[in-house]
Amino acid sequence: MTRAAGRPLIVGSGIAGLYVALRCRDLGLRPTVLTKGRLEESNTRYAQGGIAAAIGSDDSPALHLADTVRAGAGLVNRAAARVLTQEAPARIADLVRLGVPFDTVEGRIALAREAAHSRDRLLHAGGDATGLSIEETLKRRVLEGGIDVRERRVLRSIRLGGKGGVQATFSDPAGRGVEVEEDRPLVLATGGAGSLFLQSSNPSVATGEGVAIAFRAGAEVGDLEFVQFHPTAFAREGAPRFLITEALRGEGAVLRNEAGERFMLGVHPDAELAPRDVVARAITGEIARSGQSHVYLDATRLGRDRLFARFPSVSNFLLTFDLDPSRDLVPVAPVAHYMIGGVVTDLEGRTTLRGLYAAGEVAATGVHGANRLGSNSLIEGLVFGERVARQLARPTPGAPAPAERLLRIAPVPGLGREGEPRLVEEIRTLLWEEVGIVRTGPELSRALARFEEIAREAEPTREGQLAGPTANAALTATLIARAALERKESRGAHYRSDHPRPLAAWRRHVHLRRRERAA
Ligand code: SIN
Repeated sequence: MTRAAGRPLIVGSGIAGLYVALRCRDLGLRPTVLTKGRLEESNTRYAQGGIAAAIGSDDSPALHLADTVRAGAGLVNRAAARVLTQEAPARIADLVRLGVPFDTVEGRIALAREAAHSRDRLLHAGGDATGLSIEETLKRRVLEGGIDVRERRVLRSIRLGGKGGVQATFSDPAGRGVEVEEDRPLVLATGGAGSLFLQSSNPSVATGEGVAIAFRAGAEVGDLEFVQFHPTAFAREGAPRFLITEALRGEGAVLRNEAGERFMLGVHPDAELAPRDVVARAITGEIARSGQSHVYLDATRLGRDRLFARFPSVSNFLLTFDLDPSRDLVPVAPVAHYMIGGVVTDLEGRTTLRGLYAAGEVAATGVHGANRLGSNSLIEGLVFGERVARQLARPTPGAPAPAERLLRIAPVPGLGREGEPRLVEEIRTLLWEEVGIVRTGPELSRALARFEEIAREAEPTREGQLAGPTANAALTATLIARAALERKESRGAHYRSDHPRPLAAWRRHVHLRRRERAA
């Protein structure tokens, strides 16, 4: 094994990044984790519902696979979903070994249900603090294990290295202190792009730059039109769009409109447990009809003790707004939640660029198809993270050993149009309003034209200039809008009112790759 291959760079510190780092270390490698904020800041932290794995006595990987394929609306990569569902129980055992304190009932791991799962198969921890418990446990293990961690390092660009790795440029968040890592394998674990949408359940770090940077470097990206909108985030003027977990509906909470009616009964046989896209669109329709900004989640039948024991984060959050979910209706509305597409990978997490891997939300493994089954994302990060680590640990005989070197460059040429929060806000508004839950061709075309215009202005022009947040946001938004415009049908999370039905001809993926510049 070459020295560089043994020293992978892992960018991002959610479940995928931290787990890949731990497994690389176990396999004898010397990983470095770089994260743009603090180690614990990631989308993983906010995952409430749970992590899916077929470990129940009435469950099996085959049933988990069938549910995953059904939810994915004809676009699931079966081989990838088979890997996911078969390897999930072993990855859960790893988490238990690492010390994740999953909730138990009478000594056995407790299992809950979410929409479109045919069995109870969601493990949870701290009630509805599943992501937080996993993140904290993995973080502790990474720090105890002495893994090299560099915080406040923003990935700015990658390009093919000469010796089997990639050259990666990082800077601090302000674009200063540029560092170039030469020829090391790089694992993108940068998470999703939810916060590029005006209304989102994601933390502000989820800005999708992994997709933009990989695309710029020539990697293939795909399935970006499939943005999953979560039906129920807290919807009160001025309050954060806090996620109100689907597991509440799994336990019996129902949705009501302004008139107090359970409108989902007339929409889908599974009512509130219909697939997420169906529920999100039904709520959007109710909101449009009523002129209100929300509908209501009614969890009163669950009772106070059960609510506060099983859903402490949600219940205590609501109390800070003088709402007691055992007595009061909770105003909720849909938000952007999860990026189904991303950087295209194979079953080992390899992208189309040699030396570049992707794991977690930034990767498009194909397991979610056109619509992700709830709680399949944390487990995806582990299952494919494990495969990436094993891949990295494989010997690569014959490759010359590159020099270990960290190059500091000064003066810093600066970021392209950095510090343009107005443009980023415009992108967020346009994505939400014109590339949102219900899309049309004219709106998508309008949004795309504006994203391309912003991207043209913001892309770095001078040699050595770094792409900043505006350029990355504009490029990611361009790719999402382009894919959504291209797909002239409705399928899974992608709904176009001008093409409202799925079409057999569209049972295929939209993959995008940068056109080579003319020499
Ligand atoms: C939720 O708890 O409702 C979200 C879980 C997920 O998106 O997987």
